[in-house]
Amino acid sequence: MKVLVTGARGMLGNDLCPLLDDCGYDVIECGRNEFDITDYSAVKCYIEKTNPELIIHCAAYTNVDKAEEDPLNEAVNANGTENLAKICAERNIPLVYISTDYVFDGTKETPYTPEDTTNPLNAYGLSKLHGEEAVQKHCKKYYIIRTSWLYGHHGKNFVETMISLADKPSLKVVNDQTGCPTWTVDLSNAIIDLIEKEEPYGIYHICGGGHTTWYGFANEIFKQCGLQVNLNPCTTDEFPRPAKRPKYSIMDNQGRCRDWKQALNDYIELRVE
Ligand SMILES: NC(=O)c1ccc[n+]([C@@H]2O[C@H](COP(=O)([O-])OP(=O)(O)OC[C@H]3O[C@@H](n4cnc5c(N)ncnc54)[C@H](OP(=O)(O)O)[C@@H]3O)[C@@H](O)[C@H]2O)c1
Repeated sequence: MKVLVTGARGMLGNDLCPLLDDCGYDVIECGRNEFDITDYSAVKCYIEKTNPELIIHCAAYTNVDKAEEDPLNEAVNANGTENLAKICAERNIPLVYISTDYVFDGTKETPYTPEDTTNPLNAYGLSKLHGEEAVQKHCKKYYIIRTSWLYGHHGKNFVETMISLADKPSLKVVNDQTGCPTWTVDLSNAIIDLIEKEEPYGIYHICGGGHTTWYGFANEIFKQCGLQVNLNPCTTDEFPRPAKRPKYSIMDNQGRCRDWKQALNDYIELRVE
C-alpha cells in the first residue's frame, strides 16, 4: 500500500517512516521540499502526481509558546490540515491526523477519553482542534490520534533537554502538570497497529501508559541515565511561559502503548551521544 507521510523529517515522521517501510508499505516521505501544507494547489498537485492510498499527517507547527503570537500556527495546523482533508475527501483517501492532549483544558480528574469535551487553553491547542474539526467536516475515512509529551531520537525534546542540563549545580522542574510521556517509536507502532487491524474510523488517544509530572519525568530520566542531579520540584507559577498548559493531561490510551518508564529505558539504551 502506498502511504504518504507529511512531516516525514520531523521527530515523529523520522521514526514512523522506516517502521512503515519495515511493514511493507510503499512510503512517500514528504517534507517542506515536496510541498508547503498551506499551499492548496501545491498539496493537490503532489497528491495527484503520487496517488497515495493513505495519508498520515504528522506535519505541524509545534512551537507551543511561539504559537501564541505567530499566525503561521493557525495557517499550518488548521488551514494546512483543511487543505489535506479536502483533497483526501475528493479522492477518497483515508487520513490519519496527529493531534494533541492540548485540545483539553486539564480540569478533569480522571483520564480523558476521546468523547470528552475539548477546550484548549492555548493557541497551539486551538489550532490543532481546528485541524481536527476540518478533518471531521470533510472526511468520512479518518483517524484522529491524540498523543502527548512526545520524545524521539530525531527532535528537540524534554529528555534531551534534561540530559543537556544535568551538569548544572541544581535544577527546578514543574511538578504540578501531569501527563503521559510518549516515545515516538511506540506511537508509530500503535498507529501502524490501528491501520493494520482496520480499527473503526474515529478519534483515538495514543500515549505512554501510566503518568507522571514533568518533575517525575526528569527524575526518572536522571535515574535511568545514572546521573546525579540536584533536582527540585517547582510550580508552574514559578516558571511562567507564554502559553498556558493544562494541569492534568492524562489520556485513557486503552492499553495501546506500554508503560512510559519501560519505553524511556529503551529510548535511553538506543541513544547515541
Ligand atoms: N512534540 C510533542 O510533544 C507533541 C505532542 C502532542 C502532539 N504532537 C503532534 O505530533 C505531530 C508530530 O510532532 P513532532 O514533534 O514530530 O513535530 P516536529 O518535529 O516539529 O515536525 C513537524 C514537521 O512538520 C513540518 N512542517 C511544518 N510546517 C510545515 C509546512 N507549512 N508545510 C510542510 N511541512 C511543514 C516540519 O518541517 P520543517 O522541519 O521543514 O520545519 C517538521 O518536519 C504533530 O502533529 C504535533 O502537533 C506533538
